[in-house]
Amino acid sequence: MLPGSVESRLRKLPQSLLDHIARTRTLARELARAHGADESAVNLAAACHDLARALSPADLVDEAERLSLTVHSVEKQAPVLLHGPIAAAWLEADGDVQDTRVLDAVRWHTTGRIGMDNVEKVVFVADKAEPEKVRFNPALAEVRDLADESLDKAILSFLDIQMADLQGKGQPVHPRAIELRNHLMNSNQ
Ligand SMILES: [Fe+2]
Ligand SMILES: [Fe+2]
Repeated sequence: MLPGSVESRLRKLPQSLLDHIARTRTLARELARAHGADESAVNLAAACHDLARALSPADLVDEAERLSLTVHSVEKQAPVLLHGPIAAAWLEADGDVQDTRVLDAVRWHTTGRIGMDNVEKVVFVADKAEPEKVRFNPALAEVRDLADESLDKAILSFLDIQMADLQGKGQPVHPRAIELRNHLMNSNQ
């Protein structure tokens, strides 16, 4: 059972996004069991992670400003990065979700951050490696495979793939993602 405010926000989302959220929840619960993360926190965070994903780039910037969120210059260039922080701010305002692990998993799923706990890591990986994302980008199969063994290795693999992709497209990388990648490279040595 999800909180009523979450259910009503989910009802406004397009079906394709709801399908992605459902697949993310399924994989997130599986990874939570494999890695001993709190399954109900992971399930709730996965359900909420893309509540703001349907906003247009212009609306994401407007909504972030309305909510008094700090908007980094990279987020102005790539407003899609704001949908995690905006969804977390909505959840805080609605008041039905108080678990900071859930709020942080939603808030940081677009960039990751150093110091993620297991709930955050599971949601981050499940979002990136759910079956349709792997089907669309087969390079992500490695992320999915590594996730069974090590969430950190899966996250590092994803960041490697994402950064090469963004570089190839001439797009900026969020400094939080760069910091996380550097940190994981050090800790995996
Ligand atoms: Fe997302
Ligand atoms: Fe997502």
